[in-house]
Amino acid sequence: MDGKEAAGRKAIDEIHEGMTVGLGTGSTVYYFLEALAEKVSAGLSITGVTTSQRTAELAGKWHIPLQSLNNVERIDLTIDGADEVDPSLNGIKGGGGALLYEKLVAKASEKRIWIVDSKKVVKKLGAFPLPIEVVPFGWKQVEAFMTEKGYRPRLRQTPGGQPFVTDAHHYILDLHLDFIGNPKALADELDHVTGIVEHGLFVSMTDKVLIGYSDGHVGTL
Ligand code: 5RP
Repeated sequence: MDGKEAAGRKAIDEIHEGMTVGLGTGSTVYYFLEALAEKVSAGLSITGVTTSQRTAELAGKWHIPLQSLNNVERIDLTIDGADEVDPSLNGIKGGGGALLYEKLVAKASEKRIWIVDSKKVVKKLGAFPLPIEVVPFGWKQVEAFMTEKGYRPRLRQTPGGQPFVTDAHHYILDLHLDFIGNPKALADELDHVTGIVEHGLFVSMTDKVLIGYSDGHVGTL
């Protein structure tokens, strides 16, 4: 068992009968969904709210009942992955390109838990490129502004060399920052740039982190 599988499977302990559960995106969430599907097929009744087309497809294949975000009053708990997390529970998300829907679902959730392998836990954020989701109309303006600021943006592309397009039909610029001194200040700044729909800095937006280790044990932050 690797760290992702250990953390993903452990998260199932947090799910109880009748809950509305936000379902994150990514390879760690895959293991959580697999465990959730086993419980659902054994009779557990929950409603899932997905954060991406990819997760919706998996959940559909595994017969996990779903509702859209617009059709639920609240989400009890969201289980999601992260690309980096620091000791203050700030994180970078969006490596899989689902940051906008992930943040919307996180904000609608009473409680949020991230599941990560131990390699994702860092002292300072920023070695992982920070994704910003931008409107295709004028993305080059945003790119130029980010370059001016020294944020080293790079348009995310598919293996075929086309721009990567998010579920909400936007592009992604990955900012190669190396080091984020003040996540809150950077988040506030990016919140106010015209053309940026959302960014992958999640500041104080999780309540707990389950950290999976390669020997199979799971710790918490
Ligand atoms: C997708 C995300 C993912 O949660 C993040 O990229 C972690 O993915 P993985 O579990 O595959 O490492 O934010 O937008």
